[in-house]
Amino acid sequence: MRHPHKVLLLLLVSAHLAVFAREDKPGTALDLRIDSLLSRMTIEEKVGQLVLMTFRSKSAVDSTALSPALEAEVQAGKIGSLLNAVGADLTHRIQRVAVEDSRLGIPLLFGFDVIHGFRTVFPIPLAEASTWEPDLVRQSARVAAVEAAASGLHWTFAPMVDIARDPRWGRIAEGSGEDPFLGSLMAASRVMGFQGEDVGDQTSLVACPKHFAAYGGAEGGRDYNTVDISERTLREVYLPPFEAAVKAGAATIMCSFNEIGGVPSTANSHLLTDILRGEWGFQGFVVSDWGSVAELQEHGIAATHEDAALLALTAGVDMDMEGNAYHDYCMELVQSGKLSVEVLDKAVRRVLRVKFMLGLFENPYRSASSDREQKTILSPSHRQLARDVARRSLVLLKNDAGLLPVREGTGLIAVVGPLADDSESILGPWHAAGRAQDAISVLRGLRARAGKRILYAKGCEIDGNSTGGFAEALDAARKADVVIAVLGEASSMSGEAASRATLGLPGVQEQLLDEILKAKKPVAVVLMNGRPLAIPGIHERATAVLETWFAGVEGGNAVADVLFGDVNPSGKLPATFPYSVGQIPLYYNHKNTGRPPVDSVKWNSKYIDSPSIPLYPFGYGLSYTRFVYRSLTLEKLRISPGEHLKVSVEVLNAGDRQGEEVVQLYIRDLAGSVTRPVKELRGFVKISLRPGEARTVNFILTPASLSMLNPAMKRVVEPGAFLVQVGGNSRDVLTGRFEVSGD
Ligand code: NOJ
Repeated sequence: MRHPHKVLLLLLVSAHLAVFAREDKPGTALDLRIDSLLSRMTIEEKVGQLVLMTFRSKSAVDSTALSPALEAEVQAGKIGSLLNAVGADLTHRIQRVAVEDSRLGIPLLFGFDVIHGFRTVFPIPLAEASTWEPDLVRQSARVAAVEAAASGLHWTFAPMVDIARDPRWGRIAEGSGEDPFLGSLMAASRVMGFQGEDVGDQTSLVACPKHFAAYGGAEGGRDYNTVDISERTLREVYLPPFEAAVKAGAATIMCSFNEIGGVPSTANSHLLTDILRGEWGFQGFVVSDWGSVAELQEHGIAATHEDAALLALTAGVDMDMEGNAYHDYCMELVQSGKLSVEVLDKAVRRVLRVKFMLGLFENPYRSASSDREQKTILSPSHRQLARDVARRSLVLLKNDAGLLPVREGTGLIAVVGPLADDSESILGPWHAAGRAQDAISVLRGLRARAGKRILYAKGCEIDGNSTGGFAEALDAARKADVVIAVLGEASSMSGEAASRATLGLPGVQEQLLDEILKAKKPVAVVLMNGRPLAIPGIHERATAVLETWFAGVEGGNAVADVLFGDVNPSGKLPATFPYSVGQIPLYYNHKNTGRPPVDSVKWNSKYIDSPSIPLYPFGYGLSYTRFVYRSLTLEKLRISPGEHLKVSVEVLNAGDRQGEEVVQLYIRDLAGSVTRPVKELRGFVKISLRPGEARTVNFILTPASLSMLNPAMKRVVEPGAFLVQVGGNSRDVLTGRFEVSGD
């Protein structure tokens, strides 16, 4: 890999369009098998297929044996799927109960949150998105699937494809950031990686794009909070990655906890039936989020859990995760005539179809074994890929006076900061089967590279008030030529239920930086965090800043590779960094307003006490070399609505090192029948250039990439003027202009 590649969403997705859809032609052999099985099932057994429960062990002492209550339920066919049962031996044992001891022997589906790697933990998804390399991200998902499938798993609750414009929301870490175009490519790539060429292959997992929909739009960035957005924002911003995931063949989808404009997703037939199945042709099944069916009562849209079950199932939620609503009430609902057997059957069919597609009826164990686990899990090639993805995901935010890479001949290097030797946080907030003992901390990675030249002093904790370690850190800084300060958040500060109201460094970390600056040595701050932070003070005071997110099991080695210049950083931000929390939401593809900000004029859209621009814009990231953009050329200045337009730009490596650059293309529709964003990403290419080398990069703007939803929500290309903007980030661009004619 590493060849320059052009990313075209439609091409990428259409290649895999058929993966799931082909299985679902009515009247096929598969349908006949489903019908035959369905005809033998009791209502109770049917309901059982719609129930997903978490694995509960027999006791704390024997954590790998099924609790008697769960075993009885599986035997009775009252549970069709389990989550959080992991490991070939354990899943075998439970599957045997389903297959051998239940009346119809319908195999269980085993699900788990394999979000960014299984035991070989990759960088968090937000970091993977910073590579701007969808194919690399596909490979990472593939490795996760290979390992998890060896451990008896069938189904991952991933990818998380929620667009997030608010970094206070902790779950921004699990997704691909703020942009629907980049997010759609990453969503499709992950689905392809998890599901492989064929979901039925024993190394594949069924993907579950989540959380449908607009979960990232929570008011105030507070997890689970209310979402109130227009149909246009829903369709333009939040839905595209889901559509891309469905088109890539995703066989299941998880609905979200939130409501949108008064209707919780778990009861939202507009989303789950009209859009998902009607418009997009989704053939798989929808699973609720944890307890979200029962929570319809808390939302205040169902009076009882029974009502909640009826509402959710009727709206299109086929499976109830860990909430007991379907388990406890669906039988009664059918018996009382409130729920028709047709609605029940439809959901059961969808679930059974996925089980058939996985090949579970032929091989319920899918050849998972401890032998296979041992051979695949954390294999050298998996670790190597994790290291590669990690180093390609690091984003250089500042590098004054070329401080980085650390020069050959540098003497002592002081490594300070509470995250330097943290091999737990580096795995990120949701690290599946990952273990801290397998992870390389930054300190370990640096020691492996620079040995005895490293002086280490922790300085302070991630959070808390103690400055007791400051003196030791300052002492180390005084002795050294260069200081590397590893600062940021604990992994538990992002992810689910981890929203923050402030976005600076927690605890006394900024003070620690002030303290070591007293040594008057250049300081490179290595940031570790799960979200964009508001850190203008760090930007001002540090000589260099490297964003490393939570870089996974090989994170420390990857950081050393970049700090010492074995690898030239090429990551670009998938989300905007604000100056202050008060600016949020702050994203690049905003509207112009009638009064765009102008510094010298008061009466326009800005703050009087904060900049209105970002600290670091979307798409931003430096390199150890310097790229110059020139000669933006449009093949034509006027095209018809159905025409393609070739756009070229020359990129020169004006520095003295080989480097990679993500060349980004944005458009702006200057006057539409509805207002359009000031920029919309429509293409990007990652290229590698030798020192002094220049390359012409070509983009093709298609009618699809110029189209928009008109007031009737129809996708059209409207006549009028467009800007095309090309550069190395969303702020610094060359601009051209063309017209789409009215004919
Ligand atoms: C709740 C989370 O919102 C969801 O993302 C996850 O997949 C489930 N819990 C299962 O762990």
